[in-house]
Amino acid sequence: MKGSRIILLWITIPLLAAASLWREGDAVKRGEGIFRNQCAQCHGINAAGGKSFPGKKSPPALNGKGHVTHHSPRTLMEHIRKGGGKKGEWMPPFGETLNARERREVLSYLYSLWPEKTWKRYEKKFKLNKKD
Ligand code: HEC
Repeated sequence: MKGSRIILLWITIPLLAAASLWREGDAVKRGEGIFRNQCAQCHGINAAGGKSFPGKKSPPALNGKGHVTHHSPRTLMEHIRKGGGKKGEWMPPFGETLNARERREVLSYLYSLWPEKTWKRYEKKFKLNKKD
């Protein structure tokens, strides 16, 4: 009985650590800096959505209020890396400007803006407490 409780602890602790990684302070702060420099001119301050560009699709809100919450972390990371190019959209790719860690940090920052309820639902849907 005692043994199994200890095993449970060994399993639970790393899971909890992993679950909090996305919205942790340092990554979020660095991500915010990156966002301000590279993304805000299109997606708006605080990622609330960009102004419209004539003849082009408007940069969507990324603050948890729109479509963005339907995409997995992997999909969003890929979008940041490749931009909208393949789909005929016009967001530039950041695969060269930002390294993998920086792309993750900027996503951490975006996640930190999401309302708590939205984040909880998202975390559960994409099992972020089990992988990533
Ligand atoms: C030149 C304008 C521009 C810049 C700069 C820009 N984006 Fe975008 N972004 C867009 C547009 C337009 C779309 C929607 C169409 C598309 O996919 O290209 C988009 C879509 C996205 C999406 C997909 C959202 C969804 O709901 O599917 C993500 C994530 C994203 N951008 C993140 C970023 C991040 C992070 C940065 C900075 C590193 C950034 N963007 C910089 C214009 C921009």
